[in-house]
Amino acid sequence: MSDGLERAAAVLAASRRPVAFTGAGMSKESGIRTFRGEDGYWRQYRAEDLASLEAIRRDPRTVWTWYSQRLLHNESVQPHAGYLALVEAGEYADGLPVITQNVDGLHARAGSREVVELHGSLRSASCTREVSRSFPLNRELLGEIPPRCPCGAALRPDVVLFGEPLPAAPMERALELAASCDLMLVVGTSMVVYPAAMVPYRALEEGAEVLEVNTEPTVLTGEPGVMSLRGPAGGVLPELVDMAWRS
Ligand code: OAD
Repeated sequence: MSDGLERAAAVLAASRRPVAFTGAGMSKESGIRTFRGEDGYWRQYRAEDLASLEAIRRDPRTVWTWYSQRLLHNESVQPHAGYLALVEAGEYADGLPVITQNVDGLHARAGSREVVELHGSLRSASCTREVSRSFPLNRELLGEIPPRCPCGAALRPDVVLFGEPLPAAPMERALELAASCDLMLVVGTSMVVYPAAMVPYRALEEGAEVLEVNTEPTVLTGEPGVMSLRGPAGGVLPELVDMAWRS
């Protein structure tokens, strides 16, 4: 089911405190693979084999080869027009904070002022033995695979690994934004990974409207209070923002 762009644009234009909640589909048109989509990583690999602390301990070379390739690839791509549309919408509305499950840093590179990263980021890595030892994750560090702490222990990327809890402060901020927004744009997420997927439901419970932008239906589609626009983020978001404020 897809609701009208015109109606969605009117809701966005009338919104006083919109917030965005994004997932891997947001970055797809920038050339980054999703997890569960057609080209999704989790269709090819098991998350436990690549994105867990146990895998880092057992086979750090394989795990770090995967993260290293992802990081270097992320650096080579650019935020697409959908990212810029969210930044532009923030100029008309109240800043438009972004809550994201992505670790690729594209929202910040596009210029979004507040980005709440629920699943961490690929900007840094920490020691698996002494967690307070953190290092910028860059080409120099990746000169050796797997990268190691000077103490000799393997490093881990500062992303949420399989089975780990989410970092408390970003989740608190996300729930606070969900409770205080009047519209949540939910873009490019399958909504199957918890606790992150709680965030749009919190917004609905607190009376906000939800506008979903996705190429496929999700569990949110058709729920009371949810409008859905079917299509790619890089096409739909610029059209939506254009229609909300320019026409
Ligand atoms: P998924 O890969 O589960 O879902 C991607 C969603 O994006 C799907 O609903 C697609 O239909 C949609 N999609 C694909 N291309 C799109 C496009 N161009 N425009 C709009 N939508 C598009 O990704 P997430 O929901 O982000 O966790 O996955 C959540 C978490 O699962 C990730 O953060 C990661 C993973 O395990 C961790 O790494 C902790």
